Amino acid sequence: MTHPAAAPQSLIPVNPAPGNFLWWQEGIIYQIYPRSFQDGNQDGVGDLPGIVSRLDYLQWLGVDAVWLSPIFASPMADFGYDISDYTAVHPLFGTMEDFDRLLAEVHRRGMKLLLDLVPNHTSDQHPWFLESRSSRDNPKRDWYLWRDPAPDGGPPNNWLSVFGGSGWEWDEQTGQYYYHAFLREQPDLNWRNPEVQRAMLDVMRFWLDKGVDGFRVDVIYHVIKDANWRNNPPNPDYRQGMATYDQQIPAYSTDQPEVHQIVAMMRAVMDEYDERVMIGEIYLPIHKLVTYYGADNRGAHLPFNFQLIVLPWNARQIALAIDQYEGALPSGGWPNWVLGNHDQPRIASRVGHAQARVAAVLLLTLRGTPTLYYGDEIGMRDVPIPPELVRDPQGLNMPDLDLSRDPERTPMQWDASPYGGFTNTVPWLPLADDYRRVNVEAAQRDETSVLTLYRRLIALRRAEPAFRIGSYVPVPAEGNILAYLREFEGNRFLVILNLTHRTCHFAMHHLAPEGKIVLDTIPEREGRAVRGRVSLNGDEGMVIKLP
Ligand code: GLC
Repeated sequence: MTHPAAAPQSLIPVNPAPGNFLWWQEGIIYQIYPRSFQDGNQDGVGDLPGIVSRLDYLQWLGVDAVWLSPIFASPMADFGYDISDYTAVHPLFGTMEDFDRLLAEVHRRGMKLLLDLVPNHTSDQHPWFLESRSSRDNPKRDWYLWRDPAPDGGPPNNWLSVFGGSGWEWDEQTGQYYYHAFLREQPDLNWRNPEVQRAMLDVMRFWLDKGVDGFRVDVIYHVIKDANWRNNPPNPDYRQGMATYDQQIPAYSTDQPEVHQIVAMMRAVMDEYDERVMIGEIYLPIHKLVTYYGADNRGAHLPFNFQLIVLPWNARQIALAIDQYEGALPSGGWPNWVLGNHDQPRIASRVGHAQARVAAVLLLTLRGTPTLYYGDEIGMRDVPIPPELVRDPQGLNMPDLDLSRDPERTPMQWDASPYGGFTNTVPWLPLADDYRRVNVEAAQRDETSVLTLYRRLIALRRAEPAFRIGSYVPVPAEGNILAYLREFEGNRFLVILNLTHRTCHFAMHHLAPEGKIVLDTIPEREGRAVRGRVSLNGDEGMVIKLP
């Protein structure tokens, strides 16, 4: 008997009502960079007990899920993205008991916990790699990407490392090169080898069995490389001042067609469990990004959408990107939006404090799961790090290019006490010098703080299905105004955002004779009626309930 072709797996429920969607569709994700959230044992580095002690804050804020950047055993060459044991907690962060307690405490509060899965590469200190490099006939030799030198003795091809220089490292002892997309201390695994596939899928099961609610999968688009090792072409848009990696288009070292088989394999493991989520880290243009939902939506649940990070802060360009994204989503695929992460300059530094408030309104009123980066909710800025204190290998490897990611990884600013309530001792990265003024405690007391705005936006999103599961309809606007409607079962909201510092106007009469402001970056405007030609102050964003 032949089976009928499987129907595309839709993520939209048959009866699209609040509560019928999955938690990660209606919820809000909060990213913690564990080294910098809260130090529990006063060694200057954040840890798991520290995070437990701050869970009440996250619950107060109203987020639904917490994603932790890597907490696993690691020599810390790339601050945990170089893993030497995938199923052990790094002692800096605590013990497995601490982890179990964190998971239980997160769940007790009705929240979810996501971990970072780093499948593309291990640490060069991982036992797999130590074996692999020990001899050419070691059974694990083929677990990594070993190649003979080119005829001239140089690297096998021209592939570059994201962190600068060649992607190939010569191994004297065995007379071959190995490939590393990132540091030489981060050798890439050979995902064409079924033993590697099995080993990493078992890592996923280890954490899923413990009850972890999902993964953010690190550089998922890197995992498979061209089978023929072809040279990458030069990038015609490369300019002086860009990272050396940008000299090429990584056409053969990333985003290969076969990657989707691997993504589907990972997804199949997720599907062995209930309601877990798989998020993929992917920096690609929209038309390529959406392919990571997979054939029949059996790929990543949420391929991270970084449009709001990579685009200039311009209403027309953002409006166009939203439309392109909405249009490119596969039927049944769920959107998502991100404003910041541990690899990118913070939103308050990119667009300024006033526009960061507008950005908050945008992030939390768009259609799709929002991801917040710790500290952005209190308006933390990139912290200038003196050269002698730079820790990030990307910064250290390319000192002239200002690529260090340390500025966006500084300790969370909790209160005005020495070291901002993060620790009692000198922290691993310096705190912002404004932490006595910009901190959670002060912001909680201030009705006009960006934290208050975030909390109210989150509350609005939680209260109104229109924002969580409603439709998105773009509304034409002029100049640097971004406008759209969100609607669910006749409940209509108009969002108008002024992306400039100047007063601007928006004509709303074609939408409704009048409306009422339910949320505004200028709180005293809330509750007011608006009609006709709405005047927005510079840096103002408003949410208007339409009749
Ligand atoms: C991802 C991580 C980044 C890390 C890199 C290598 O882009 O977000 O922090 O350095 O992968 O693992």
